[in-house]
Amino acid sequence: MAAQQPKVSLTGIKPTGEPHLGNYIGAIRPSLELTSTYESIYFIADYHALTSIRDRAELATYTRSVAATWITLGLDPAKTVFYRQSDVPEIFELSWVLSCVTAKGLMNRAHAYKAARDRNAEAGVTDLDAGINMGLFNYPVLMAVDILIMNTDVVPVGLDQSQHVEYAADIAGTFNHLYGGSFALKIPTGIFPSGASAKTLPGTDGRKMSKSYRNTIPLFAPEKQLRKSIRGIVSDSTPVESPKNPDTSAAFALYENFASPEAVKDMRVRLEQGGTGWGDLKNALFESVNDWLSPLRERYADLVAPGSELDAILATGAEQARDRAQPVLTGVRRAIGIATG
Ligand code: TRP
Repeated sequence: MAAQQPKVSLTGIKPTGEPHLGNYIGAIRPSLELTSTYESIYFIADYHALTSIRDRAELATYTRSVAATWITLGLDPAKTVFYRQSDVPEIFELSWVLSCVTAKGLMNRAHAYKAARDRNAEAGVTDLDAGINMGLFNYPVLMAVDILIMNTDVVPVGLDQSQHVEYAADIAGTFNHLYGGSFALKIPTGIFPSGASAKTLPGTDGRKMSKSYRNTIPLFAPEKQLRKSIRGIVSDSTPVESPKNPDTSAAFALYENFASPEAVKDMRVRLEQGGTGWGDLKNALFESVNDWLSPLRERYADLVAPGSELDAILATGAEQARDRAQPVLTGVRRAIGIATG
């Protein structure tokens, strides 16, 4: 019997900001863990970022820093196909084809589009579509293509992306229904965080760590800046001597993710007993995060520099991705009657 083909796991990373600790815990670490069980395809969704980023330097910088971050944190390009979405023109060709089989109503119901309209309504703007570009409206189709063109089985993403994965499955189903025969698009399913990665990581203000809240702790900032942002984490004013509840503390929630289980247990006891201040906790948190990142900073700096080996890694990844995309696109072109034979 032929050995079973490993299933394909694919995810896209939108380069809209400098990578931070929340990205690591919520997306990078769980996705890298899957690379041992799945054939993995991870890419930088730079054309998705274009729906919101208008500054060319910003788009270029974030694309490079996100790619360098994933490699520095353990993505092995020999084992994972890693590329920029914009380097795979097949994606954009299929995007048109699949928009032609996608109901506009499905897009009307997409969460991100609805949220943008709701914001207009709340602001009292009468044209609810004001400021909304077609890229934002079509975003779910492009994302479906990212997934379907690689014959993806599973898509590891945050819960906020579950509708997008359902849409991809839905669009593939419609295509197969309309054109099914010897060729069919594979129907993907989402894989959502569980265990430690399911808990949202708090930022410096205690809310979910997110670029839009400006409460992130950056991954590859210089040591001084890392210390400053960890020192800036909110804490209550319980005096050092008093007993404290670690479970109300953002710094403790972060510590749980970056220190050893023994160190976390020990810190919990010390905080609950009193005599240990929030400042002590923050120092310990800084040490753990910094011990982990220190040896990686140089590697990151090399990779992110213009002309580094990152270019060759992404070029190889683009070739591999195109090799995978082409047969799917050819199947689609034949199925719809654009290509014959
Ligand atoms: N929409 C995803 C996000 O905002 C990024 C993304 C683009 C993606 N294409 C994808 C994720 C394909 C998974 C699969 O995070």
